[in-house]
Amino acid sequence: MYCNSCPHTGVGLEWIPDRFLNHEKDLIQCSLHGALFEIETGYCIHGPCARERLTPVEHVIENGTVLVRLPD
Ligand code: FES
Repeated sequence: MYCNSCPHTGVGLEWIPDRFLNHEKDLIQCSLHGALFEIETGYCIHGPCARERLTPVEHVIENGTVLVRLPD
């Protein structure tokens, strides 16, 4: 789970509501300039923020509920 913020400009990543993945559904794709991020690591493999990472969000799943630790 990552903050919905592209490391390039800070824009939200989804290109339409709740759609974050590329056509092949194997990478996260930024809505603005098309940067591509590995789903498992948040590492940018292509685009203007190549070699940067999405900001991870600490979380756990308990009984089907996602619990998120908010930043200080
Ligand atoms: S704002 Fe995400 S790639 Fe430019």
